This record gives sequence, structure tokens and C-alpha cells, in this order.
Amino acid sequence: MLQSIRGMRDVLPVEARRFRLVEDTLRAVLRGYAYEELQLPLLEPTELFARGVGEGTDIVEKEMYTLADRDGESITLRPEGTAGCVRALLQHGLLFNQTQRVYYAGPMFRYERPQKGRYRQFQQVGAEAFGLAGPDVDVELMALGRACWRALGVEPLLRLEINTLGAPAARAAYRAALVDYLTPRQGELDPDSRRRLDRNPLRILDSKDPATQAILADAPRLPDFIDDESAVHFETLQSALTALDIPFVVNPRLVRGLDYYTQTVFEWVTDALGSQGAVCAGGRYDGLIEELGGRPTPAAGFAIGLDRLVLLHEQVVPVLEAAAADVYVCVLDSESLGWAFAIADKLRQALPTFRIRVHAGGGKLKNQLKRADQSGARFALLVGADEMAAGAPSLKYLREDREQQSLDLPALVQALAAAGV
Ligand code: HAM
Repeated sequence: MLQSIRGMRDVLPVEARRFRLVEDTLRAVLRGYAYEELQLPLLEPTELFARGVGEGTDIVEKEMYTLADRDGESITLRPEGTAGCVRALLQHGLLFNQTQRVYYAGPMFRYERPQKGRYRQFQQVGAEAFGLAGPDVDVELMALGRACWRALGVEPLLRLEINTLGAPAARAAYRAALVDYLTPRQGELDPDSRRRLDRNPLRILDSKDPATQAILADAPRLPDFIDDESAVHFETLQSALTALDIPFVVNPRLVRGLDYYTQTVFEWVTDALGSQGAVCAGGRYDGLIEELGGRPTPAAGFAIGLDRLVLLHEQVVPVLEAAAADVYVCVLDSESLGWAFAIADKLRQALPTFRIRVHAGGGKLKNQLKRADQSGARFALLVGADEMAAGAPSLKYLREDREQQSLDLPALVQALAAAGV
């Protein structure tokens, strides 16, 4: 039998319901902060990510799904959303002389080693703010994150880590100092870190290898290289977080795996998901718009890993209601089918939160009631020639010890509304 591609999951109905709940909650919070939705292509020119995310990053070096289009153009399934977002806003002239606050949601693709919380197709909900240079918008993005965690009840499981990479010149000076320090010691580094030494040395700070960590203990420290302006930006940010009562820890080793960051970087991390602890990550990327051909424009944003957030939500709310339907309409004879559909539609209109399933495929009432039971519905509605003649379907309570009732439509709506979903 054909199987799905490794790292690409099927999200089956019960889990899909949780994804929907979590995503809808995030969308509602983003809406409340007046962020507007952008819908972007899954495929982009490969060059966008090479230039945007950075040639030396793991993503571009070894994780992209890249293929030749039929005309030979190299195209890539998006590994993240920020570069495409900038591309789209530039292409449509939406960054010129204006600010933008936008969000996007959808699948991203990275050829990573799959494990719990890490997939090759995964979902992100990302938020980006353009044209705003001050730390106030950095704070807004963190407040927005906290509002999301609160709305989902996962706030106690997450902590905010922040750092500053400084202005590009400071970052470059630090990079050079780190390379100078590590080069004579490269024989003692783990193989991944050795490979990163010329391409992406800051990422070595992330290494979990004990020998590498021991060497890093005496390495030059990023905070010593930060320029004054960035230091002030970072301090203002911290005061504002304190004023907003958003707890955080400064992690000077937090450097992020994408090249476009400048100044503020942050991650919301959890200890509840094993090694895949980053649930949301982002930062400022003031140089990316220019890198992609626009005028210098400050920008900052984050992306939430929806798959990980869903796993976290499951720990807080282990069981979501498993029923597929609330009302199951049993059709007692083929002549009543039209009326059954009409009743079901009227109920859907009158009770928009109810899920109403009409039986298909005929059969005896007993078998239809079995299906009703399997659907998890609390109510069955019996619709046949007698009910049609009386203008009143019979309401049967499937999960309570209550008498079956014959009710006309208004009474039926009232009875269901009173019982609730
Ligand atoms: P990122 O750190 O690469 O940043 O990804 C953001 C989040 O996506 C991660 O914290 C994680 O929750 C989730 N994620 C990443 N890879 C996987 C995977 N293989 N499986 C499951 N979840 C994953 C970015 O993508 C930036 N574009 C964020 C950003 C937006 N920075 C500024 N604006």
C-alpha cells in the first residue's frame, strides 16, 4: 500500500479539530491586534531564500525542497514565510512610505530529520511588522505572543528568551572575533560546528556538544561587541517587557539559524516537548528588505510552529470532544428525504454552532440509530411520512434518559438550543 512521504503527516479528524481550534484562536488574537492576513504562494524562486535566509544557513544548504520548473527555472517549496512576505509586499509596492502589520498561516517545508515536533511539512502562523524601527514594535510582538498563549491556556508552559545581535557591523565584528578564537581550536570542535566555522560561525554557539561548549566558555562574548544604539534599544525593550509584566530571560547564546536578523531576537521555549522546545521564534530583520531590492525598511516578526503548539495544547487540554456530529437525522423512508434535508438546513441556520448530519444510504431505523451513536451525536431526529404529515419530527435523546418528543420546528429549535451543543 502507498504510504505518505517521510516527515509529512496526515492530520486525522480528531487532531485536525485541535489544529483548527488552535489556529482559529491565533487568528482571532492577531485580528484583535489589527494584523491583516496575507496569503502567499508555496513555491517561490530559489534565489529568494538563498538571498533572504542566507547561503550559509542549514535551511538553504541542506533542507530545501528545490526542483526545476518545466521551463528550467529553479523553484523551492517555501521553508519559511518571512522572505516570501517581503517579496510580496515589495512586488506590490506596499512597503513604500507606509507601515504594514500582516500575518500568514500555512505549511512550510524543510528536509530535516523527522521526530516528534519536527516534520518535513509543518505549519506556521507568522506575524510581521514593517516600517517600524523602535523597540515598541518588538514589545508588541512579544505581547502578541503572550496573548496567544493566554488564549490557549499554555502560558505557564512557555518562557521568553531574548537577545540582541547588534547592528550588522557589530555582528560582523563579533563573527570575526569568534572565528579568530575558534580557528586554532577547530580540531576539538564537533563536526557540525567545524563545518559551520566558515559558513555560519554564530550558530556554533547553539551546539549541544559538551567539548564544543567547553571551548565556548572562554570565547569572546557577543554582549561585549554590541554597539551603543543597539544596547539602548535592547534596554528599552527590557524595561517595556517588565512594565507589561512579561517575564523574560536574556540568553546571550541565542543567535537564531537564519541570516537576516539584526538587533532583537527572541524565542518562546518550552521544556514540555523534549528537544523540540522552540514553539515560536523571531526577531528584527532591518536589512532584509534592502537585501531583496527594496529601500532600507525596518522590520520585525515571528513565526509560531503550529504543530508544536498543538502538542503543547494537548498537554493542557488532553481530550477534545470526540463527537463528529451533534444531531443525526434518520430518514425513515425515501419519500421523506427532501423534508429531512429541509429540516436539517433550517436547524443549521437557526443553530449555527450545531453540527447536523443527515443519514445517507437508507436502511432500517435500528441501523440508522447505530450510525447515529457512532457519530457521537447527542440527538437523533426521526423523519418519516407520519412526522411529515404532522409537521413535527421526533427528537430522540441518545445520551440521556429522556422521553422521545414530537416537536414542530420552532419547538425543536428551542429544545435543542436549551440542551446546547
Ligand atoms: P524558525 O525558527 O526557522 O523561524 O521557525 C519558527 C518556528 O517554526 C520554530 O520555532 C518551530 O516552532 C517551527 N518549526 C521550524 N521548523 C520546524 C519543523 N521542521 N517541524 C515543526 N516545526 C518547525 C522562521 O521560520 C522565521 N521566518 C521566523 C520569523 C518571522 N522571523 C521573523 N519573522
